Amino acid sequence: MASGADGRKYRSGTLAPGGVSAAAFSGTRSGPGLAPAFPGGMQMPEESLTITDNRTNITYTVPLHHGTVRAMDLRKIKTGPDDFGLMSYDPAFMNTASCQSAITFIDGDKGILRYRGYPIEVLAERCTFLEVAYLILFGELPTEPELKEWTDKITHHTMIHENTKEFMRGFHHDAHPMGMFISTIAALSTFYPDARNIQSRQVRNHQILRLIGKVPTIAAYAYRHSLGLPYVYPDNDLTYTENFLNMLWKMTELKYEPNPVLARAAEVLFILHADHEQNCSANTMRCVGSSHADPYVSVAAAAAALSGPLHGGANEEVLKMLDEIGSVDRVPEYVEKVKAGHLKLMGFGHRVYKNYDPRARIIKRTAEAVFEVTGRNPKLDIALELEGIALQDEYFVKRKLYPNVDFYSGIIYQALGFSPDMFTVLFAIPRTVGWLAQWQELLEDAEQKIARPRQDFIGHDVREFVALEDRVTKVAPVSD
Ligand code: ACO
Repeated sequence: MASGADGRKYRSGTLAPGGVSAAAFSGTRSGPGLAPAFPGGMQMPEESLTITDNRTNITYTVPLHHGTVRAMDLRKIKTGPDDFGLMSYDPAFMNTASCQSAITFIDGDKGILRYRGYPIEVLAERCTFLEVAYLILFGELPTEPELKEWTDKITHHTMIHENTKEFMRGFHHDAHPMGMFISTIAALSTFYPDARNIQSRQVRNHQILRLIGKVPTIAAYAYRHSLGLPYVYPDNDLTYTENFLNMLWKMTELKYEPNPVLARAAEVLFILHADHEQNCSANTMRCVGSSHADPYVSVAAAAAALSGPLHGGANEEVLKMLDEIGSVDRVPEYVEKVKAGHLKLMGFGHRVYKNYDPRARIIKRTAEAVFEVTGRNPKLDIALELEGIALQDEYFVKRKLYPNVDFYSGIIYQALGFSPDMFTVLFAIPRTVGWLAQWQELLEDAEQKIARPRQDFIGHDVREFVALEDRVTKVAPVSD
């Protein structure tokens, strides 16, 4: 420990490897509102923070990387040898990067979304879903032969084991399709015990093919099950999305002929939903995957996270909300209830986007194409009125609340004939690609370990045990 000319103490060894120690500041003054001044000739890190711990009057230099501080650097800030060291406290990860990722880039203020550097608008316009899936998983757009091989492999993994089919038959007729989807994905783990060898890239790639191939089949069977219809086997002559429509809607015809407009709309919707960086379900995938659980149970956990109404389940809630509003003239009254804090405007707001969600803009356009085939969904008028009022209203403007991906997707899904409980399943099919890419990246990142946050313990200190006969009631009765 050295004393500086300003009377402060400086402790060295507080930095990540390659950094410059705090002792280097000896004799310099830095503090709030003052730019750090570095003695001539001294090599300072270009990006760093100077932190003074007012409890000890010790000054530390903490390096910055890509605009982040390493939380473990804070641990070195202590009041004494017995002190655990500082932690950062960030409920809901409002300002914490949990990983480095090269997959998806979002600029929430500007409303930008890119997969592996390519703007979402270009991918939605020019690519097929499987092309984008390859890009997300392997980092580059496929060449023609690569795409052919990739498509061929996925196509040959679309069948599910007959026992999986039997397993699905066991669900009650009115089981929620998302519950069926999550449970069946988890059940796949029992069919593919080799998947537990997560250390092998080859084994991992095999499970990726299986999962991307099988999720539409499981989703379609969940849909058919809820309608009491027989399951339809995959048709390998069709594209990924065409085959999905086939498994959903084929009736007695010998060969299902997909409508090209609807198949393309499904393709666009799948592309838009394929990944969205560290959202709640991607974080769940990484968290469960970090314990080295197999990819089936990890994807099932991610899908469970997606099902919540604040995440992918919002599309179902949007339709319930539009039903509740009922007509365009009742929109202002509903908006007032939202502003009074009685309700949330479902499909509005986002943790990251503080601008129009670029996916919502593309979905709105896709809706027009779908309506040419299916007829216009009257809910669209209510949604447009809601959006129009909300985008002008100070409550929403001040909080930067804009329509998100779920605001318009449900209106298309309903026009296609799906009931709202199927909407989140339709989201989960393409998002499986994103979850798997996040999982691969996690397992190949040497810095990652089992995800295990800390806590700020606010409970009792050690207490004297009280024998059963001496206890008095302190807990209010819980009603059930
Ligand atoms: N309707 C009305 N007010 C809202 C809404 C909404 N949809 N969303 C946020 N707000 C308000 C909050 O009440 C809060 O107001 P306050 O500052 O007066 O307290 C402010 O805006 C900030 O909201 P937070 O809840 O702090 O924002 P957070 O980032 O935690 O939540 C979330 C984001 C969960 C998406 C939220 O906007 C929401 O619940 N939206 C509705 C559900 C939805 O559409 N979810 C889908 C998101 S996209 C996806 O996951 C695929």
